[in-house]
Amino acid sequence: WKMTLSKICCIGAGYVGGPSCAVIAQKCPDLTVTVVDLSAHRIDQWNSDTLPIFEPRLDEVVKACRGKNLFFSTDIDKGIREAELIFICVNTPTKTFGWGKGRAADLKYIESAARRIAEVAQNSKIVVEKSTVPVKAAESISNILSANVKPGVKYQVLSNPEFLAEGTAITDLLNPDRVLIGGEPTGEGSEAVKALSWIYEHWVPKENIITMNTWSSELSKLAANAFLAQRISSINAMSAICEATGADVDEVAHAVGTDSRIGPKFLKASVGFGGSCFKKDVLNMVYLCECLNLPEVAAYWQQVIDINEYQRRRFTMRIVQSLFNTITNKRITVLGFAFKKNTADTRESAAIHVCKYLLDEGAHVQIYDPKVPRDQIMSDLTMAEITDQPERVPELVTICPNAYEAAEKSHALVICTEWDEFQTLDYQRIYDKMLKPAFIFDGRLLLDHQQLMDIGFKVETIGKRLNRDQAKLVRTHANSTS
Ligand code: UDX
Ligand code: UDX
Ligand code: ADP
Repeated sequence: WKMTLSKICCIGAGYVGGPSCAVIAQKCPDLTVTVVDLSAHRIDQWNSDTLPIFEPRLDEVVKACRGKNLFFSTDIDKGIREAELIFICVNTPTKTFGWGKGRAADLKYIESAARRIAEVAQNSKIVVEKSTVPVKAAESISNILSANVKPGVKYQVLSNPEFLAEGTAITDLLNPDRVLIGGEPTGEGSEAVKALSWIYEHWVPKENIITMNTWSSELSKLAANAFLAQRISSINAMSAICEATGADVDEVAHAVGTDSRIGPKFLKASVGFGGSCFKKDVLNMVYLCECLNLPEVAAYWQQVIDINEYQRRRFTMRIVQSLFNTITNKRITVLGFAFKKNTADTRESAAIHVCKYLLDEGAHVQIYDPKVPRDQIMSDLTMAEITDQPERVPELVTICPNAYEAAEKSHALVICTEWDEFQTLDYQRIYDKMLKPAFIFDGRLLLDHQQLMDIGFKVETIGKRLNRDQAKLVRTHANSTS
């Protein structure tokens, strides 16, 4: 293998492939980076002024390199033929039918990308799996490639999982905690690892590039996501105890997080985690354990998912109970539909499930999100797994252009996403538009609850009890200690 590369290709122009290749192109002017995709629409968007995904600073990075050393194309075969190194960044959804349905990852897109490479490659390639995949996927890719290999062509398959989080993709890519590269423990394997490492060394300190065997690398990615999801389920489980006892989950999180062995990050209680990775990867882990005949370990990780679903149900049940046990025909405002702030992505968003429960009870839901398009919300709420009466959804759901219109004549306001702009809304104006008593359910511990209660709102949030008498107490206490 040549130590220095000149052309690389990325199959899959999604949330992972697009931003990571844009950053590689920016940091490696000596490389030509081509991102290819089956979807002509996606590629057109990448080549336009309106990129297919919203990510802070992504625009400037793409604009700086596009047409120079960064190209987006539907010519998959040309991309593969010309590249010395190929990233596979295709989607790996959870299987919806057959063995492992609902848990195992569907590798059909990975397999078809691997078969395509085997078919068109005319010289040796380093193939890098970047999509999060079940342990031993690199082996499957390797098997497909070697079963279809042409004379004179050799392959090295590496695992290089991506740890970027949506909403902070560019910052994460520019300053990764670490880059993980897994390869075969052979001479050729380690040459391939060096070649990939060379790309990252353009901007990542060498000591932050960790190399290991392929299976460790694949499992590490699943493990990291499972640990992160577990922390959120742990603090969410605490929030239920806090609500029952009068403890305050933010205070508990702060106290626990100051233990240097635990650390302060990822301890924010919420209405539940979402996103394309956590649920999928934990379920993958559960399925892996079942296949390996480790039922106790499978049950341990399954609990992380169960608590997350419980948290969404519990939160919505509190809304119904507070609104005098019926929300049928009541108007409820939902602020935020994305699975977290600074992204338009709604995959596995807690908001989908909160809305589902509200709609099941016959409520009228008025939704506002700063970034998620109307069609996306409607298609999420009409998915077969969410409703068996999709025709009712357009009757019951209104998508609003701003928070104030969404609050019109509503009984309750429900915060599902922690968008910054929700902190600076004019809540007096919102209060005036709402029916009384006006409720706020803060599913993200985002707002100034004291200020809201002073306006007259009845406020409920995750992991603490708030009511007017308690609020007075809080205030007296705060005054006496200040
Ligand atoms: C623990 C808490 O650390 C301490 O803050 C609290 O006040 C009392 O309980 P202790 O039980 O004395 O302290 O020891 P600790 O170092 O926490 O170890 C507990 C057990 O966990 C030991 O058996 C230790 O061997 C084991 N352990 C610890 C592991 O198996 N793996 C680890 O990574 C860390
Ligand atoms: C995650 C991992 O962080 C990333 O390393 C991996 O590559 C992909 O999966 P992502 O899903 O994009 O990234 O976002 P993340 O910031 O991890 O948030 C996931 C969900 O957890 C969001 O719904 C978020 O709101 C929620 N969350 C996060 C909490 O509820 N509390 C927290 O303390 C942190
Ligand atoms: P991720 O979040 O993992 O990046 P996305 O769904 O955002 O996933 O993106 C994956 C992309 O991969 C999609 O745009 C899809 O069209 C593309 N894709 C899937 N299979 C192939 C394939 N065999 N060849 C080229 N592109 C593919």
